[in-house]
Amino acid sequence: DAIETVLQKVLRRIRPTEEERAFVEGLMRELEEIARETIEDLGLDVKPYFVGSLAKDTYLAGDHDVDLFLAFPLDTPLEELREEGLRLGKAIAERLDSHEVAYAEHPYVRATYRGVKVDLVPCYDVESWRDVRTAVDRSILHTKWVNEHLNGRNDDVRLLKRFLKGINAYGSEVYVRGFSGYLAEILVIKYGSFLKVLENSDFILRQKVIDPAGWLRREPEPAMKTVKRETEEDKPLIVIDPVDPRRNVAANLSWEKYGRFYFKAHQFLENPSEEFFFPETRKSGSYLAELRRKGTHLVTLVFKVQELVDDLLLPQLERSARGFERALSREGFNVLGWNVGRSSGKAFIMLEVDRRERERVKIKPGPEFFTERGWDFYRKNGKVWLIGKRLYAEKRVKESILEVIEELLKKNAVALGKGIRENVKRAEIVLDYVPKELEDEAYLFLAREKWSLKEQ
Ligand code: CTP
Ligand code: MN
Repeated sequence: DAIETVLQKVLRRIRPTEEERAFVEGLMRELEEIARETIEDLGLDVKPYFVGSLAKDTYLAGDHDVDLFLAFPLDTPLEELREEGLRLGKAIAERLDSHEVAYAEHPYVRATYRGVKVDLVPCYDVESWRDVRTAVDRSILHTKWVNEHLNGRNDDVRLLKRFLKGINAYGSEVYVRGFSGYLAEILVIKYGSFLKVLENSDFILRQKVIDPAGWLRREPEPAMKTVKRETEEDKPLIVIDPVDPRRNVAANLSWEKYGRFYFKAHQFLENPSEEFFFPETRKSGSYLAELRRKGTHLVTLVFKVQELVDDLLLPQLERSARGFERALSREGFNVLGWNVGRSSGKAFIMLEVDRRERERVKIKPGPEFFTERGWDFYRKNGKVWLIGKRLYAEKRVKESILEVIEELLKKNAVALGKGIRENVKRAEIVLDYVPKELEDEAYLFLAREKWSLKEQ
């Protein structure tokens, strides 16, 4: 039928070919060999594990980054794991094509080998959730659990991942807050297939708590604690991690991204098409025309940022945009929306506001009343009064939003992201105009194309 035809077409594009599979498998064998030799050379007691979508055979065609985890014995002190892990990572990477050190909770090595990105991540060799000490330790357990439960439904995971990418809801990074690959895998395992997951988009939300491994029976205490904590935080979904009752796999999933999934799942089932998986590129148009149509105004701050990675930068930009929203509304400007991002080495914050200036009363000190200019001041101004011998009057002034923002920044009256405070203060601020490279971004934001749920 129609749905099946679409799914087959999509699968032809996302299922790795035999050729790609052979390449990937060869690559993994070589890397494992290199890792084992290096571990031996350094005289370490470390086990190499492949994790992530390659190890689970749930990667999308053409998207085969390698996650090679280096598992240290549980009795290794954390400091030693860090140092030795980095040393081992570098030693392995020396034998690959190129590498650099990346910083997450712990530093790790990012290498490339035969054109493929290879992450070399130190971790503990955990056997159960009770052993977990660092954020990455669970990955080995995840890989094992998925491989034990997927039962050949790998292509269903691929479909779900591609669907989520297509509707812009894939990725658990803090600046995406969508579905992680692991969450997609769990949903397919729990509901049986790609289509079943879509068909259950209402039910999943109403059910709220998904406990595929039955933790609530086996370890009710930590599991209940997780449910309680996440309920209080009003998360759309609580998926108790099959390998750790203390963790909600969907902790990073936002209502907005679940909402996208909810609407798109319904629409797809009613009216299936490849478009959901591979949407046409976003429409573009004139942001100036959009401003005229809406009668609103656009303030844009553009500033340099250091080599902050997106994971750190984007939450700070969001926090700052919210800070502007609050500060400006206290000053009489209504912020209708904001948009943040990075473009050609610079960061930006866009604020859509209802007006470009405000009227305000200022107190104007005048001359001493008995002087020549005293009578003049008295006649020219409406409300006039004396403080001591000096005349004062009220004056109505127009203030541009740019002046107000500059004043607010000078007084430290905007709550800004900590790591970018000084950069924002030195920002170039423009009104109803954006630099060339931000024109598309401004349009997509003002027209709400960036977040629109519907084609129009
Ligand atoms: N992981 C996790 N929770 C996250 C992100 C990652 O538990 N929010 C763990 C999972 O164990 C996952 C592994 O890190 O298997 C690798 O993460 P990632 O590369 O993001 O996901 P993949 O499953 O490899 O999917 P993709 O095909 O998108 O790379
Ligand atoms: Mn991956």
